[in-house]
Amino acid sequence: MLFSPAKFSVAQACSQLSRNFFNKNITSGYKAAGAGIRLKHTLPEFHVEFSAFAPVWSEEIVKNHYTGNHALYVKNLNDTETKLQDAISSGKTVEAGNLHRNLRFNSGGHVNHSRLWKFITPVCNGGGKVIDGSLKKQIESIWGTVENMMLALNNTTATIQGSGWGWLAVNKQTLNLELITTPNQDTPEYYGYLHLFGIDAWEHAFYLDYKTAKAAYFKNIWQIANWKQIQKNYDIAMATKA
Ligand SMILES: [Fe+2]
Repeated sequence: MLFSPAKFSVAQACSQLSRNFFNKNITSGYKAAGAGIRLKHTLPEFHVEFSAFAPVWSEEIVKNHYTGNHALYVKNLNDTETKLQDAISSGKTVEAGNLHRNLRFNSGGHVNHSRLWKFITPVCNGGGKVIDGSLKKQIESIWGTVENMMLALNNTTATIQGSGWGWLAVNKQTLNLELITTPNQDTPEYYGYLHLFGIDAWEHAFYLDYKTAKAAYFKNIWQIANWKQIQKNYDIAMATKA
């Protein structure tokens, strides 16, 4: 089995969150395949009830998102890397080159979702609670209020045609805060940005609960934004300054 999610009550889940799950780096989802040959990607551990993100997300949609969508990105990423390694080692240059689309798509899917589980947290664990700090100050200097920035990112995300993500991100060149979108499962890094917070605008992230009311989903997702993690992401991004 790829994962074994622990089962706690919602109350217990909140006490477990900070020490078990949300402090983990996504590289924890990576382990040796054996014999020191290559590493396999694995799902990051999920130490909360799938119902812990209610009322923003139902138990069913979180379970499907994690055990279905995210798990499939992990599987396909491992499969693609195996094929790529085989193609390279056997000198099949054209085949190796053709695998880049699968590699880009599934690596992005795994990375983006591993980050998602960290920059959200249940309401009972401080979800949605904006914290004072350098990020809040910078947001207010640009958008006036945090609420204005949220609305602006929701509007930016709504412009995505098809599937993708909306991001509060730092431009790696200027270190300025920007609101961007990435298509499909592309990461912000692919376009020269570092992620702080993202809105998964794929249908699998909202349709079960919201049907076509995508705007309501964008509005509600902020109730489980993990501002401690988002501030931490900002600190990491700003530390890249030369
Ligand atoms: Fe997703």
